Formats: sequence, C-alpha cells, structure tokens
Amino acid sequence: MLDEIKNKVTEITEELVSWRRDFHRHPELAFEEKRTSAVIREFLESLGLQVETCAKTGLRAVLQGKPGGQTVALRADMDALPLQEEGDKEYISQNPGITHACGHDGHMAIIMGVAKILSQMKDRFSGKIVFLFQPSEERIPGGAKLMIEEGALEGVDAIFGLHLWQNLATGIVGLVKGPMMAQPDAFSITIKGKGGHGSMPQQTVDPILVASQLVVNVQSIVSRSIDPLKPVVVSFGTIKGGTIYNIIPEKVTLTGTVRSFDADVQKLTEQRLRKITRKTCETYGATAELKYDIGYASLINDAGMVDFVEQITAKTLGKERVKHIEPVMGGEDFAYYLKKVPGAFLFFGMGDGTQYPHHHPGFDIDEKALPEAAYLMTALALEGSSLHIPH
Ligand code: NI
Repeated sequence: MLDEIKNKVTEITEELVSWRRDFHRHPELAFEEKRTSAVIREFLESLGLQVETCAKTGLRAVLQGKPGGQTVALRADMDALPLQEEGDKEYISQNPGITHACGHDGHMAIIMGVAKILSQMKDRFSGKIVFLFQPSEERIPGGAKLMIEEGALEGVDAIFGLHLWQNLATGIVGLVKGPMMAQPDAFSITIKGKGGHGSMPQQTVDPILVASQLVVNVQSIVSRSIDPLKPVVVSFGTIKGGTIYNIIPEKVTLTGTVRSFDADVQKLTEQRLRKITRKTCETYGATAELKYDIGYASLINDAGMVDFVEQITAKTLGKERVKHIEPVMGGEDFAYYLKKVPGAFLFFGMGDGTQYPHHHPGFDIDEKALPEAAYLMTALALEGSSLHIPH
C-alpha cells in the first residue's frame, strides 16, 4: 500500500505546490484566517468529508475508514505573520504587512494532500483519521487550547504534527524524544524615573542608566542562578526610551522573552527576574512595573510515538532520512495536544537552496519537501490507525 501512496503523492505534486502558493499569496493573521478556512473547507467537503468549524476559524474533518482500528489526528497550523514580505517570487504575498514566513502555508497543503489520498483509500483501512486545521499558532494564547476545548481531540487515540524546517536539508526528518520545544514566556518592564535636562542629571532619576544596569544584572540569572545542565534563555528584544539627545526621559520600557523546558527552572527564572528588577530600580530611586506572560507549555514528545515515526520514516523515505536532533528553544502550541493524547511532533527539512531563516521577510521553502512530507504524514496516519495505542 505504501508504493501506491507514493504514486498518488507524485500525481498530486503540482496540486500541493499550487495550494501552498495560493495560501502564500493570501496570508492571514491569527484568528483572522477566514479566506484560508473557506478554501480548506470547500476542499475537504469536495472530498466528501464532514467538516466542523472549531476555534473560530479552525476546522475539524473526520475521514471514516472501515470499522475498527484507531483514531489518528493530524494537525496543520494556518496563520501567517505580521511582517512585510521581501523578494520577487511570483507568488509573493498580496496582503501588505502579512506573510507566511514560517511555512504554515506548506503545512496546510501537506495535510490537504493527505486528506485527498486517504479519502480515495477509505475502504482499504480500518479506523478514523481526524484532520485538524488550527488557527493562531504564532500568537499566544494560541488556537490549540481552544480547539481542544471545543472537542477537537474527542475519540482521538494518537496525534501527529509537523513543522517544515529550514535548518534541515530537504527531506531530512528531525526527531526528538521527550522535551523538544521550549516554553516561550514574554515579559515587559517599564522603569519609571524622573525626567529632566540632560545637563542637570543630579535633579533626575535617569531610567536609561537604570535600564542599562538592569540588562546587565539580568545576565546573572542564567549564568549564576540556574543549574548549568538545565537549558534556559533570557533575552531582551526591545528597549525604548527618550525623545532627543538633551532630555533625560521619564521612563524606559524593555521587553524580552524567557525560554525554558522545566517548570522549576521557569519559576526560578521568573522570580529572579522580578527581584533583580525591583532591587536594581530601588538602588537608583526608580520604580518598575513588570508584566510577565506565561507562554505555551513546553512540547514533550511521547518516546514510543517517536520510535513509531522513525520506523515509518525508514519504511517510506529511507532510514538515512532520520536525524535525531537537539531540542530547540522555540515554542509551539502543539504541546497542548500532546498533554492530552500520545503523539509526536516532527521537523521536516526543506532547507535546500533557501537562504533565509523562519520569520525573515525573505523566507521561502524548498517545495520539493511537500510531496515527501505528504507521503510520510499519509503513512503515519494509515499505519497509526492500525497501531495498538495504549490508553
Ligand atoms: Ni511556525
């Protein structure tokens, strides 16, 4: 049956590319994926699938095979990023300031391809396949939680998801057992001082000086408070204050992110950040307001399911395609599905010939990855539906 799937994937290669390019031309932001959702709905309905709306702009479609078997879900995320695309590709974004710079356009095309192939084979396998098209992966609080609340995982025994990955050569399948992606928290700190003339600093409380000290002091969290064998990142992303060279401003605002895998490490990092901010400001007579937003849970793959993905990758694309990689500090709300049912998230390499990383204005994918990823995901769904999955 795998050879048959391989042939079917080859037959739909052009379609995969044209679906992906259509989404790329018409990107939409988190929870605003209206056109995207309508296009996918029409397609799934044309395959004869029952489609429900889920999480505002999301979709859930069920493909019923023969009686018996397991229920396997596949998830694709739908949202683009608030970024102006650069370059001269023929399928460049038609929506100013918005672009698919992460590859979610490809994820949707891949899962549509799986739906098309498996719907032609539904009298040949036992079980059910649930296709989840999820809005808002890029923006916290994310669409996954809402999809789950609205019943996306009802009856589901196992779930698989993928991310096209620019850091891997095209066709390489990047796997991690256990913790794979970090919890991405966000914080903002507003330091209030006392403004005044740049020539009379003694009459002011200079928030620029305080912010500078704070940025330096915070570096001690990772280097001196956290176990060196436990990964954590604290990075500042913006620092804003002041209007002109000769005025000491009233306030400075800094924003940043904390990335962690372990709940205790996360807690300690947050506590240290709060204390260092308060004490640094106190030292100079300033005050601070700190807003700390907890990000997605860290993504933890089921080890047995990763073994299963490895086995299916070897059977479909070849053993040499499997690469066991290090976890990454990026976040991903697929984490929430994995908290509910066993499953695995994988990185599918598409880096050949590309020059820009994810979230870059010139980002693009090697489209040769699309049929290969569709082949793997189809096989995962098909073989997963006959797998014995412990509950
Ligand atoms: Ni992404």
